[in-house]
Amino acid sequence: MIIPEPQQLIMGGDEFKLHKNTVVVYDNNEELKQQASYFADLVVNSFGIKINTSTLKNSKESNVIILKLIPGSNDNDQEAYKLIIKEEKVIIEANSPRGTFYALQSLYQIFLSNKLTIDHDNMQVMIPTLEIVDKPQFPYRGMHLDVCRHMFPVEFIKKYIDILAFYKFNTFHWHLTEDQGWRIEIKKYPKLTEVGSWRKETLVGHYGKETPQYDGKKYGGFYTQDEVREVVAYATERQITVIPEIEMPGHSLAALASYPELGCTEGPYEVATTWGVFEDIYCTKEQTFEFLENVLLEVMDLFPSTYIHIGGDEAPKARWKECSTCQATIKREGLNDEHELQSYFIQRMEKFLNSHGRSIIGWDEILEGGLAPNATVMSWRGTEGGIAAAKDGHDAIMTPGSHCYFDHYQANKETEPLAIGGFTTLEKVYSYNPIPEELNAEEAKHILGAQGNVWTEYMETTDYVEYMILPRMAALSEVVWTGDKNWPLFKNKIETHFGIYDKLGYNYCDHPFVTK
Ligand code: ACM
Ligand code: ZN
Repeated sequence: MIIPEPQQLIMGGDEFKLHKNTVVVYDNNEELKQQASYFADLVVNSFGIKINTSTLKNSKESNVIILKLIPGSNDNDQEAYKLIIKEEKVIIEANSPRGTFYALQSLYQIFLSNKLTIDHDNMQVMIPTLEIVDKPQFPYRGMHLDVCRHMFPVEFIKKYIDILAFYKFNTFHWHLTEDQGWRIEIKKYPKLTEVGSWRKETLVGHYGKETPQYDGKKYGGFYTQDEVREVVAYATERQITVIPEIEMPGHSLAALASYPELGCTEGPYEVATTWGVFEDIYCTKEQTFEFLENVLLEVMDLFPSTYIHIGGDEAPKARWKECSTCQATIKREGLNDEHELQSYFIQRMEKFLNSHGRSIIGWDEILEGGLAPNATVMSWRGTEGGIAAAKDGHDAIMTPGSHCYFDHYQANKETEPLAIGGFTTLEKVYSYNPIPEELNAEEAKHILGAQGNVWTEYMETTDYVEYMILPRMAALSEVVWTGDKNWPLFKNKIETHFGIYDKLGYNYCDHPFVTK
C-alpha cells in the first residue's frame, strides 16, 4: 500500500482507529507543529474528519499520533524515520523534520488505502498495526517541470509539489526560461516579461511537418517574484528544494527577443512559436555576462537552493562561428574552438555562482570542451554523461531519455493523446537502476539519484501533465527510494493508488501495463 516501498515493514495483528478524538502531538519544535497541522489538514480534506493538534507536554495518552525528534537516531540519516502503529497510538521518530514528514506521508498513504467506516455515528478509518524502519536509497529524488512551452497556474504548481511530497521526492527542478517563453519576473529587466514571456502563436500538432500549422493565438504569462516566493515556501513546508533553471547559452530566444543586443547578430528576434533547437543563442560579449549575473542575483534572492541549474544543453555553435566578438573571445582566452567557448561561458557563470555560495548543475553538454570544476552533471542523452562525470570525480544526476522522460508515450501511440515520441512504459521506468554498470563502488557514490523530466511541448493542460506523470513517477519513486524493488508487488499497490488518485482528484493513465 505504501509507495515507495519502505526498506523494512513488519505487520502487527491489531488496529489503530483514526476518528475525531485523535490528536496529533508534537515535540516542541516549530517545524513539527507546522507538520502536525499540515497532517490534520490532509485528514480533514481526505476523510472529512477534523482532528486536533497539541504539544507533547499537554498530550493525553491514547489515540494520539506522536511526532518526535530523536537526534542521532536512525544512523543519523536526516531523511530516515521510524513509524510504529500500535493499537492505542502511532509513534513517529526521526532525526529531523525531514524524516517525520516522510513518516507522515507513509501514514497518510496507509489511511488512504483503508476504508472510511461509521462507528456509532462517528466516521473512522481503521488501519493495521505495524512497524516501519525506512530511509531512501538516493539523496537526490527529483521531478522537473517545463513551464515555458506551456505554462501552468501557481495552484497547479502547488498540486504538482503535493504529488512530489506524496511520493517522497525532495527536489523540484523548475524549468523557467526557454526559446518559447521567459516565465520569471526579473525586476531589473522588465522586457523579459513584457516581451519575452509572450509568443504570437503556437505550432499545432507534431513538430517537423512539411507544412506547419499555427493556432494564431497569443500565448504566454509569467510568475511574479511574489508567486515564486509563495511556491518556494510551499515546497519548503513539504521538505522539497526548488532548483530554478535559467538556460544558457542556448534555449534563450525569449531573452534575445527582449534584449536583442545580447545575441551575436543583435536581431531582431522573436519568441519562438515552434519547437526544436534554435541557432540564435547568447553572444559571449561582456554585456551578456553582466545581464546573466544580474538575473542570477535576483534568482538567488528568490531561491535558497544550493544548486542553480544553468541549462547548457543544445547550444548550436553556428552564430559563434560567424561572430567577430565570439571569435575575439576565443582568441583572447586562448581557446581552441566554439566547444571550448561554451566551456568558458559555463565556467565563468560557475565562478560567479560559486562566489555567492551556490553550485551549478548543467545538462550533460557542459562536459564538452571541459567540465567546470565544481559542476554537477545532469545526464539526459543516455547515461554516458553521468558516467564520464562520475569517473572524473564530479557528482551526477541521472535523467536518461530512455527511462526518465515522462513526455514520451507510456502506452500505444495509436490510441494515446499526442506526445513527443518515444515509448517509456511504467515497467521500463520501474526497471531503471541509476547506478551505471560501468562505475566502480567509489565512482558510484557520485550518482546522487535520478529525476523525471516533463517537457511540455505537447502538454497544454494540467490534466494532461498529471496523466503523463501518473503513475510513472510512482515507479520512479521506488527507483530512487526503495532500491530493492519488487515489480509484482508494485503492480498490486499501484491499483490501490489509482483509487487514491480518484479520491484526491489526480488524473492518470489507467492502462499502463502495455508491452507495445
Ligand atoms: C533536454 O532534454 N534538452 C535536456
Ligand atoms: Zn557572438
